[in-house]
Amino acid sequence: MIIARSATELRDALKGKNGSIGFVPTMGALHIGHRSLIEAARGNNDTVVVSIFVNPTQFLPGEDLSKYPRREEADFKICELSGVDILFYPDVQAMYGEDEVRITAPDVRGYILEGVSRPGHFDGVLTVVMKLLNLVRPTRAYFGKKDAQQLALIAQMVENLFMDVEIVPMETVREKDGLALSSRNVYLSGEERTEALKLSAALKCSTNMVMQGTLEVTEIQKAMMDILAPLEVEYTAIVNRRFESLSRVLIGDTIVLVAARVGSTRLIDNVWM
Ligand code: PAJ
Repeated sequence: MIIARSATELRDALKGKNGSIGFVPTMGALHIGHRSLIEAARGNNDTVVVSIFVNPTQFLPGEDLSKYPRREEADFKICELSGVDILFYPDVQAMYGEDEVRITAPDVRGYILEGVSRPGHFDGVLTVVMKLLNLVRPTRAYFGKKDAQQLALIAQMVENLFMDVEIVPMETVREKDGLALSSRNVYLSGEERTEALKLSAALKCSTNMVMQGTLEVTEIQKAMMDILAPLEVEYTAIVNRRFESLSRVLIGDTIVLVAARVGSTRLIDNVWM
């Protein structure tokens, strides 16, 4: 595995690689969710590139940038064992200069749900993803449905800006008890981890209701809130794949989302139905 720490090193590493390139952008602290993306990339491409970069522009003032988990050694091992060909591991200076051109998220879709709690977050995500895609020039790039709004906005950017890459959506990987894997789970105490199960429980409840024929969004959201109640809920939402709100679930075109704080840790989760 080649470790590239700058744009030049990455370009050099990519020179002479023929065939398809699968790319998995991450912020590190890799878990089985990340690994499922890397494995999919490994299975379907000649060359696999993973990036690990805790992108400062997607963190708002007061967010957890400085204490975001960093696991350099373990992450390198995981990449190596997963058959990654090139690990891109730049520092901030390698990625950003001063007074730069930026990508802005669309006015509506970028500023609802996650965009309300974290205004400007998606500008940072789209900007760094654009930079990374331009550097790696992958055939396919893999993103988790766990970050559903991020995935939708990246797919929209690729479409709107006529970018030549296939965005591959990947299923959310969960612990046996339902908790969606997240780098932020390491912040949870034992007790908080139990509390955090309310997110996946509320989503499971929404799926069960739909399977039993309840399609009214207000009814589903009420039942979800009954489960989530003890937590500091930021939002529950039921939208279609374009993130437009729905009054009734449309099977095959619905995402149910939740964001809540458990202690001081902010968690998000969703199901696609
Ligand atoms: P990060 O949170 O490290 O996530 C990297 C990728 O892993 C994202 O596409 C995310 O959706 C996916 N992922 C996270 N948890 C998952 C799970 N439980 N199951 C499946 N996939 C999961 O998302 C980011 O980094 C950044 O915003 C990034 C896109 C790298 C831009 O900085």
